Order: sequence, then C-alpha cells, then structure tokens
Amino acid sequence: MNITIIGTGYVGLTSGTCFAEVGHNVTCVDNNPEKIETLLKGEIPIYEPGLADLVKQNVAAGRLKFTTSTEEGVKNGDIIFIAVPTPPQADGSVDLSFIEKVAREIAQCLTPEHGYRVIVDKSTVPVKTGDKVEQTVRRYAPEGVQFGVVSNPEFLREGCAVDDLLNPDRIVIGSNDEKALTYMHKLYEPFVAPVLVTDINSAELIKHAANSFLALKISYINAVANICEAAGADVEKVAEGIGMDKRIGRQFLNAGLGYGGSCFPKDIKAFINISETLGQPFGLLKEVERINFDQADRFLNKIREKLWVFREKKIALWGLAFKQNTDDVRESVAVTLAQKMLDEGASVIATDPQGIPTAKKFSNLTGDITFTEDMYAALDGADALIIATEWPQFAAADLCEVAKRLRTPLVFDGRNLLDPEDVKAAKLEYYSIGRPAIDSN
Ligand code: UDX
Repeated sequence: MNITIIGTGYVGLTSGTCFAEVGHNVTCVDNNPEKIETLLKGEIPIYEPGLADLVKQNVAAGRLKFTTSTEEGVKNGDIIFIAVPTPPQADGSVDLSFIEKVAREIAQCLTPEHGYRVIVDKSTVPVKTGDKVEQTVRRYAPEGVQFGVVSNPEFLREGCAVDDLLNPDRIVIGSNDEKALTYMHKLYEPFVAPVLVTDINSAELIKHAANSFLALKISYINAVANICEAAGADVEKVAEGIGMDKRIGRQFLNAGLGYGGSCFPKDIKAFINISETLGQPFGLLKEVERINFDQADRFLNKIREKLWVFREKKIALWGLAFKQNTDDVRESVAVTLAQKMLDEGASVIATDPQGIPTAKKFSNLTGDITFTEDMYAALDGADALIIATEWPQFAAADLCEVAKRLRTPLVFDGRNLLDPEDVKAAKLEYYSIGRPAIDSN
C-alpha cells in the first residue's frame, strides 16, 4: 500500500520505517528541512537500536522516502498518518494546535481526483480529537473529497521501538467508517498480532488508559517500597511475590526513582485534565503523579542524610537518560537529581552510555557539572556514587573497582540494579529503594 506519515519524530520515523520494512511504500513528511536533509543523507536524528540499518535498507529498496512537502505526501498516500507532537500546556491540557494545522494542510492538499483517503491519527490525543479532525478536514477540503478518519494509537517503547512495532502485543484500530477499516486491515495484514477494532473514541481512550495504568503500577510499587523501607522488608521480594499472580504480573513493578520520559508524565497529566473536562475527575491519577514526584526528593533526602551537605562534595552520577537503551533525557529523573545536587553546591561528574550529547544539548544543567564516557573514571575521588538510570552496564559493574576508585565507599542505587550480596563482598556502604541498607559501620 502507499502510506504517508506526517511528522517524522520518534513515532513517525519508527512507524514509517517499519511499515516500509513489511513491504509498504512510505513517504515520511516533516516541515523541518534540516531533519529531512539529515535523513536523506542516511543519518538518523535519534538513537534507537536497529533503526539506522532498517532506514538504510528500506531507502535503498525504494520503499522509504523523505520530503518536506505535505502536498507530495498527500498525493502519495492512500493512508495518511498524523504523527506530530501533542505537548502539554501549563494547565495540563493538551496542545492540539499541531494536529489541527496538519488536518487543515491535508484538507487543502486533497482533491476529489485523489479518490478515497484514510486519515489516521497516531499521535496521543484526548478522546474526541478524531471528531475534530473529521470536522476540520471536511471544512477545509474542496467539495467532493472523500475520506475516513481513524484512531490508531502507538504503544512503542523507546529503546525497543523497532521490535514493539514489528511484533506488537496488539493493534488498536478505532473508526466509525467501514471503508477506512478495510484499508487499515490491509495495512496491518503483514503483522502477526491481534487486531482490536473499536469506535474512534474508545481507541483514543485506550492509549491514555494504558499509559496511566502502567504509571500506576510504577507508583504503586514505589509506595510499597517506602513501606518496605519503614518495615525493614525487601521490595524486590514483595514485587516477585505479587507479580507471580498472573492477574498482576511482574512487569512494571520495578521500584526506583519513578517514571520519566516524553510520554508518561505528559500522558498522565493529560488524562487527569481530560477526566476533569468530562466531569469525571480521576483522583487516583493525581496520587500516582504525587508519588512519582516525591520519589526523587525522598532519594535526595536519603543521600543528604548520609553526606550531610552537598557543598564541596564530588558526586559520581551514573545515568542521564530517562531509562536504559535510549539517549532521551526528556523529563529524566537523573537530570532532575543532578540539578538539585548542583544547586546545593555539589560538583557532579556524570556518565551515560548514550545520554551525554543529549544532556549537553537539551538538559540545561547549570553548575559544576562535567561528563565522562568512562563510568569508572567518574568515580575517581568521588564522595559517593549515585545510580539513576537502569542501564545493564551499570548493573554489571565491577564493584571492587568501584570501591577502589571512590574516596568514600558510598553507593546510592536509585534503580535497585546492584545485587546486595555483591555489594557486601565489595565492602560498599549501600542504599537503594525499598531494600534494607547495607551499612558497613
Ligand atoms: C511508554 C510506554 O511503555 C509505551 O507503551 C508508550 O507508547 C509510550 O510510553 P517509554 O516512555 O518509552 O514507553 O518508556 P517505558 O519503558 O514505559 O518507561 C517509562 C519510565 O518508567 C522510565 O522512566 C522507566 O525508568 C520507568 N519505569 C518503568 C520504572 O520506574 N519501573 C518500571 O517497572 C518500569
């Protein structure tokens, strides 16, 4: 099929590439000429395992194209995806101006000669946005244009986006238009995944409800971790015990510094706002947010309690990205922690397998911060090590080397990455989340 994706950001680029990979002809459109130029040169603007090779292969096979022209995209695509950002506004509501603009642009490029077109919303949007897209396209398109509107939310995780897209748990297609559904079934024919067909409002709600539920699991286990700490229990064992119940499941029950990234914080805020707009305030989600917000401060208090003051302390920080396998530092708890310690006069030396360039470029960290690629060099002469991102490299660290390099053998593990037995063997003083401290004194 001929597919067009408008918006070549994280979701647009990865989705477009994977549609090409399964055999469709894909045109990716973006209004940023620099981004399109970079992609035409074969360079990928984001770090996503496996993506660069797939882009190269599909461009070479002639199935994947990049352009700045919406007109070209609309001409080429029987199915036109909208995959532009939906950022939060100060009051928690979602800024839908990019979606509205693209809907208008598509409408103005459509002609009756194009025949029937499917317009699909892939961006995460509040329920009832599909209705607005339909009204807008109808209003701005020339008379006689035929189209159907679909909601097809994306559930990919950064760091494993390619696999999530090629082997999804489910494909959700929401539409009230039978012809559009036929097109969508054909589009997803090459994928072996269950397809759930719903009305458009339900599909839009599924995305916000799914992300909120996952965030709820994280805040739930973090609240349990705090009780474990007070009671001298071990949250890892508790998570294992409750996760063995198939109705609960072990995934997303990793206690730590809480969730960050470009999706959860924004989506939870949006869902709270949507619930209020609809007159059904979702108080539970406010608590999810509060627990998540407090988690970084609780951790910082733990560090402060041991170091007494941050001023004139050298802190080794392992982690900048919001999670492992990504260079994304948006809403990263690691960055929040770093800034708070810097504000209190600490000097921070940070490392991250992928996040250093992005942190330098986007995180606006101010104070005495330096970066090193070498996770062990970060430790030299430091008063403490703080682990803030769940990279496997950190979990596999040589702890004797850690003990040797630190000035004082203090480790604060915000992701419960290290095995307490190994920590004891290396004679480190160790504080993690919801597990008994290992205090050498
Ligand atoms: C998420 C959803 O998983 C995905 O389905 C949706 O489409 C987009 O949002 P992503 O933001 O890439 O994906 O990250 P995810 O892997 O879900 O992790 C989000 C945050 O939660 C990270 O900061 C991570 O560190 C944290 N997390 C995750 C925990 O603290 N504990 C866990 O058990 C799992």
